[in-house]
Amino acid sequence: MKILITGGAGFIGSHVVRRFVNLYPNYEIVNLDKLTYAGNLENLKDIEHMDNYRFVKGDIVDSNFIDDLFEQEKFDSVIHLAAESHVDRSITMPTEFVLTNVLGTVNLLNAYKAHRNNEDGIFYHVSTDEVYGELTDEGKFLETTPYDPNSPYSASKASSDHFVRAYHVTYGLPVKISNCSNNYGSHHFPEKLIPLFINNIRHKKPLPVYGKGENVRDWLFVEDHASAIDVIFHKGAVGDTYNIGGNNEWRNIDLVKLLCKQMDEKLGRTEGESEQLITYVTDRAGHDYRYAIDSSKLMNELGWRPSLQFEEGLSKTIDWYLENEEWLDHVTSGQYRAYYEQQYANR
Ligand code: NAD
Ligand code: TYD
Repeated sequence: MKILITGGAGFIGSHVVRRFVNLYPNYEIVNLDKLTYAGNLENLKDIEHMDNYRFVKGDIVDSNFIDDLFEQEKFDSVIHLAAESHVDRSITMPTEFVLTNVLGTVNLLNAYKAHRNNEDGIFYHVSTDEVYGELTDEGKFLETTPYDPNSPYSASKASSDHFVRAYHVTYGLPVKISNCSNNYGSHHFPEKLIPLFINNIRHKKPLPVYGKGENVRDWLFVEDHASAIDVIFHKGAVGDTYNIGGNNEWRNIDLVKLLCKQMDEKLGRTEGESEQLITYVTDRAGHDYRYAIDSSKLMNELGWRPSLQFEEGLSKTIDWYLENEEWLDHVTSGQYRAYYEQQYANR
């Protein structure tokens, strides 16, 4: 089976590529990625020599390139992760999100519809729980929760989900969709909360907590997301949607304090030292209050379970960053500095 994985050089994509290349030697895995600021082939160094793996550099927004690639390669299935993924960037450059997340997805759907090789193959679209909007203190997102996206990022992902579903209903394309909560783990670009704060604690830089730090996110270890994608890809029902989450809600400020505590211990700093770095800054525009996922469908129907408790997963994550300081230094050089200035200088 020949599988195209898009966005395989990014955070979650690299974990999915690694899992499929290592666990399924009979599959031919082709990783298509534009290598934006968020894509990094260093994330895949350990598997780049494997016989069942190939990398192709390219842009999913380029419909001619995508059509030619699918015509040549005749993929059996697609696992689509390529996206612009950061809410704060979507607030300053929404059009980029429409291009990659909406048009890019439609280009892939068209090419797969025209050139797919195998009646049993599927187009698996990886999405986010942010499409459901925000929750109050009560309730959780179900697969049946109406879409109500608030940020340009979540609006673009919601739109892409609708196109995937529409191609199933209109053209009978075999699709699967999953909507996952916030991920954390190794190889996460340090613009998102956890890796950004790990890097700032390392450098004793301020920790910019938006608003009062009371917003709630439901965190899942990235390797558990990859295992859920594996289960849904192989066993999920065609045309269905699955919610993925770890039943692990944290208020931002509580998470940041836990991170500070664990890092003080690991860095041999005095207790409470890193907490002093917490700085409350202007809130994000349209900041969703709370996300929480009900993944009982995935657990009951397909038997998936997350493997790690959060404290353990966070500790493993910090260890990875401390052992891979070169990776962090590399991705935070150059353009990253300009980005950081623009996001945080006047906040
Ligand atoms: P990421 O930003 O780390 O990686 C995105 C990857 O897509 C990068 O390798 C980038 O180079 C590539 N890419 C971007 N634009 C491209 C284009 N036009 N053509 C080809 N490649 C392009 O993102 P991530 O956090 O790994 O997220 C992966 C997917 O999972 C996204 O679809 C995202 O919406 C979804 N998701 C993310 C989370 C999360 O917590 N990070 C949670 C749920 C769902
Ligand atoms: P983020 O990691 O950007 O993920 P998302 O917005 O997709 O949930 O942010 C997680 C939470 O942390 C969110 O409530 C915003 C908050 N946050 C901060 O308080 N400060 C920061 O510098 C960042 C990047 C996020």
